[in-house]
Amino acid sequence: MAKRKKGENETVGKVAIYPGSFDPITYGHIDIVERTLEIFDKVIVAIAENEEKRPLFSVEERVQLVRAFFKDAPKVMVDSFKGLLVDYVAKTNAVVIVRGLRATSDFEYEFHMASMNRSLNTHVDTLFMMTSKDYFFVSSRTIKEVARLGGAVEGLVPDLVVRRLKEKFKLPVTKRKQLGWDD
Ligand code: PNS
Repeated sequence: MAKRKKGENETVGKVAIYPGSFDPITYGHIDIVERTLEIFDKVIVAIAENEEKRPLFSVEERVQLVRAFFKDAPKVMVDSFKGLLVDYVAKTNAVVIVRGLRATSDFEYEFHMASMNRSLNTHVDTLFMMTSKDYFFVSSRTIKEVARLGGAVEGLVPDLVVRRLKEKFKLPVTKRKQLGWDD
């Protein structure tokens, strides 16, 4: 595919959009970003505001966590979007949407979403990437559940995310006293 030009001289190359809720980002997501960069010149991590999903982290917090991880990766851009993904894609010079597939159970939802996006905009294609075997069981939903119940999520999400999860799920001081934690 031909390289596209942005502005007068700047050649951006092939750009992929990796959309999601990233509530919060996991090493499964990070693995997909890193492998996408082996195929594309740049990846835009596009974080959906998705307030109806009642996210644990605000969109600003999610953007901050992803940016912090990729601060030294000039080929990764982190952004947020509201509304339809296809409308966001149309505003960028991305050539494809990338989504990770963990198991066949992900397939139906992903197939519907990719088909709907393509029906909304025939130029928008979705590329699926198999999750690495080390992260098959990792999802933002299970990470939040384990963290909320006091389980260890170290090694599955970046250290900063571990710290933020601990802050979010910290019991109030009165409850800690009731449990005798602070005595
Ligand atoms: O990480 P997630 O929650 O599986 O990501 C889902 C996401 C954000 C990619 C999807 O919900 C989305 O694209 N939302 C934007 C609204 C939209 O375009 N909906 C129509 C697609 S069926």
